[in-house]
Amino acid sequence: MGTLFWKFFIVIWLALLTMGGGMGAAFWLRHNPALNANGAEPQIAVNSAAPYLNAANLIFSKSGVNGLRSFLAEFRHNPALPPLFATDDFGKDLLGREVAPNILAQAKSLAASHSNGVRRIKTGEGQTYLLFALYSENNPSTNPRPLQPDPPPPWLPITLGFFISLIFSGVSAWYFAKPIRQLRSAFAAVAGGDLNTRADRTMGQRHDELADLGKNFDHMVSQIQLSVNVQQRLLHDVSHELRSPLARIQTAIGLAYQQPDKIPLMLERIEKESQRMNDLIGELLAISRLEAGVIGKLEVVDINELITEIVEDARLEADSKNVEIDLNIAGEIFLQGYYDLLSRAVENVLRNAIKYTRSHSKVSVDAKLGVSGHQLHIDITDQGPGVAETELSSIFDPFFRGSHSQKSQSIGLGLTIALKALETHHGKINVSNRVEGGLKVEIILPVT
Ligand SMILES: Nc1ncnc2c1ncn2[C@@H]1O[C@H](COP(=O)(O)OP(=O)(O)OP(=O)(O)O)[C@@H](O)[C@H]1O
Ligand SMILES: [Mg+2]
Repeated sequence: MGTLFWKFFIVIWLALLTMGGGMGAAFWLRHNPALNANGAEPQIAVNSAAPYLNAANLIFSKSGVNGLRSFLAEFRHNPALPPLFATDDFGKDLLGREVAPNILAQAKSLAASHSNGVRRIKTGEGQTYLLFALYSENNPSTNPRPLQPDPPPPWLPITLGFFISLIFSGVSAWYFAKPIRQLRSAFAAVAGGDLNTRADRTMGQRHDELADLGKNFDHMVSQIQLSVNVQQRLLHDVSHELRSPLARIQTAIGLAYQQPDKIPLMLERIEKESQRMNDLIGELLAISRLEAGVIGKLEVVDINELITEIVEDARLEADSKNVEIDLNIAGEIFLQGYYDLLSRAVENVLRNAIKYTRSHSKVSVDAKLGVSGHQLHIDITDQGPGVAETELSSIFDPFFRGSHSQKSQSIGLGLTIALKALETHHGKINVSNRVEGGLKVEIILPVT
């Protein structure tokens, strides 16, 4: 469960809890008799009754139960005095008055807690009485306990709950809406063409799904930016590459006009340059098809057949340089793939090897399955100058031509196409200079 889930969960829960708490408090206040019946119930006077209790105690000690009885009777008849009671163990008052059970319970609990609102007196016969005065409306001095402050009106907790949940909801809505607003403006900026926009910077310290969304957005924009840059560079390189043969064709035409005797030579030049332009456009089309995913039909490819065919085609070129091709395929190898793409990848690497190896040297092609049987390795090695270590990482870039290449015969797209074709097959291509000289290109393809 994601962090955003818990944030939503806690916020909604707390808002409901606050509102529910307010309603609950209101309900409780409304129905709690202790709070609502403030002072209506008879109560035992506590501190303020002390002088009357002292007097009653004195009379009892002097004149016994009878003296106390008449003292109580006097209090009973004088409305200016608080009602004074003396109850025995059975809750019976000395004057035979009815004593409410809650008053008896109060008296017992006050006596147990040695409160000076109740005196415990004992007769010679062992009878115990609890002596206490009741709070009387007529005797405010006997106020039993400070009056409870009025309970808050029930609308107060509801209103409080309402406002707290309002603030809560407002803050949470702002908290959740802010990153979405930021993302929205980031989207708008990117849609407006500003590919330098990043959303994560504005997300602060967040660590939730919205922050992840910001990171994913940034990743997406970086990828788009990269791809746009690559395309722009390619477009720039393509125009540059097309311009050179075109310029040469125009020069040749100009020369042919000026010197008609050179027409055959110029025509030959024009043919060569147009062939170069044709090759260039062909390779560019191959790249664009690969990028667009127009890659033909997936089939079971017989690697033996594929490599043999390429090697046979290349022999003519190799022979003209007295280059020997040493072909070595270990057993029958089949894999699921696109025949034309694989063929193009291997052919580009092999043609490079033949092109760059020394005359009278050897190019080796070795194909074998890896130890696990899940990978096909095609190693193509030559005996040429290899590639400068600083150039090794660039040789797959479009239009890259190394220091050893003959610029007039190179376009610099062969390895770019090979890499893309192999990536389509989830394969890899590694290049390294051999210790004994020459380049080793290793093609690795998964065999399923
Ligand atoms: N076997 C090799 N030996 C030495 N350098 C090589 C070898 N293979 C490739 N390179 C270097 O890598 C560069 C890029 O190779 P790539 O095949 O992409 O282009 P290219 O051969 O120059 O032109 P083309 O598009 O006609 O193939 C070459 O220009 C060359 O400098
Ligand atoms: Mg090449």
